[in-house]
Amino acid sequence: MNNTIAGFSKLSKEEKINWIANNYFSTPSEAIDLLKKYWNSDSILQQLHDEFIENTITNFYIPLGVAPNFLINGKNSSIPMAIEESSVVAAAAKSAKFWATRGGFKATIINTEKIGQVHFIYKGDAKKLKDFFANIKNTFFSDTEALTKNMRQRGGGILDIELRDKTELIPDYYQLHATFETKDSMGANFINSCLEQFAKTLKEKAENYESFTAEEKEIEVIMSILSNYVPNCLVRAEVSCPIEDLAEKHIPNPEDFAKRFVQAVRIAEVEPYRAVTHNKGIMNGIDAVVLATGNDFRAVEAGVHAYASKEGQYSSLSHAKIENGQFTFWLEIPLALGTVGGLTSLHPLVKFCLEMLEKPSAQELMQFVAVAGLAQNFAALRSLTTTGIQEGHMKMHLNNILNQFNVTEEERHNIKRHFKHHTISHSAVVNYIEELRK
Ligand code: MEV
Repeated sequence: MNNTIAGFSKLSKEEKINWIANNYFSTPSEAIDLLKKYWNSDSILQQLHDEFIENTITNFYIPLGVAPNFLINGKNSSIPMAIEESSVVAAAAKSAKFWATRGGFKATIINTEKIGQVHFIYKGDAKKLKDFFANIKNTFFSDTEALTKNMRQRGGGILDIELRDKTELIPDYYQLHATFETKDSMGANFINSCLEQFAKTLKEKAENYESFTAEEKEIEVIMSILSNYVPNCLVRAEVSCPIEDLAEKHIPNPEDFAKRFVQAVRIAEVEPYRAVTHNKGIMNGIDAVVLATGNDFRAVEAGVHAYASKEGQYSSLSHAKIENGQFTFWLEIPLALGTVGGLTSLHPLVKFCLEMLEKPSAQELMQFVAVAGLAQNFAALRSLTTTGIQEGHMKMHLNNILNQFNVTEEERHNIKRHFKHHTISHSAVVNYIEELRK
């Protein structure tokens, strides 16, 4: 077996697959068959997917589900969710239904500012650098006019550029810290192009700045890149109702429920071990919508978790209170999303999902995503503080276990009937299947 290869990317798709199958699988033909089973029969569609990334060998499916009945700011929507975890869509749908009869979700955009930085080293007099920056600041705008023209026409562009002295952290380290408005695009390409031009302008102007010494003229740009930390690109989602309205079949004592719920949120606010899991539950909803709408869930994850640590300790993204008999539960999260550009016009299912959401603006999409996160968190905390999480989880997970054992329709029916009245666990289901098959 030889597990290294030069020029893998130059091989054809078939050659790549053959190499993988022959190097890593005892029965290569089975591995090849499996990969091909996931190819799309529509060759144009397949080619589209092949070209999203390098070295594509097949497609990796995860389910696309829908959580209907989301009442948001008085309007009903069905939210698309791409996720593999069995209970997530069911939980979102359950929360949506619960809140639809209690005033629905309110979502508001707090701000939409994006950030990018040019990180550079300047060896010299800080005051001179400050004067130099003030002198050339307008040039950063004029040198990027061609790049920003379209964005300006759409009402966006560069908002501001600051010089930041970071020499207390690293000797001679400074930044150009720029803020942007990118309207309906996530803006990564726009921001990075502007930043790279800022870096060129910075270097050129420094080389010709008469007050600088020879060493000061040699500004060294280390890198120019957007930040995925966007604490000023914020959306808030909220639900609220009189405590007595929380009552339903599984919440016989709403006052007690509300108190336990608020206590659970409080624990996540002060205890990082719990906060991480609490926020993971929020991200179940957020990532699923971010992915379904063709946005960058890694960027969102990184930014959201940095925001959760903004006070110096990792903490809950959501909050809850009881005030004058009113229960309120909300979250505020940073989300840099786009509904134009990137995958949004390329991936047919992303287009489908955006159409289902009635072609939202980036701000509207921020609201959908934040609401999905809050709904998910509500469902999790509701289960955790009442029945416990496993009841619902295992009910949904039962199908996965049954599929693992290739049960027949008759067995499936029988097993589901049995576990309506028995606690589901992996071993209990396996034992029951074995009993049935004896
Ligand atoms: C599981 O994917 C998510 C939960 O653990 C979230 C939580 O504990 O709040 C149920």
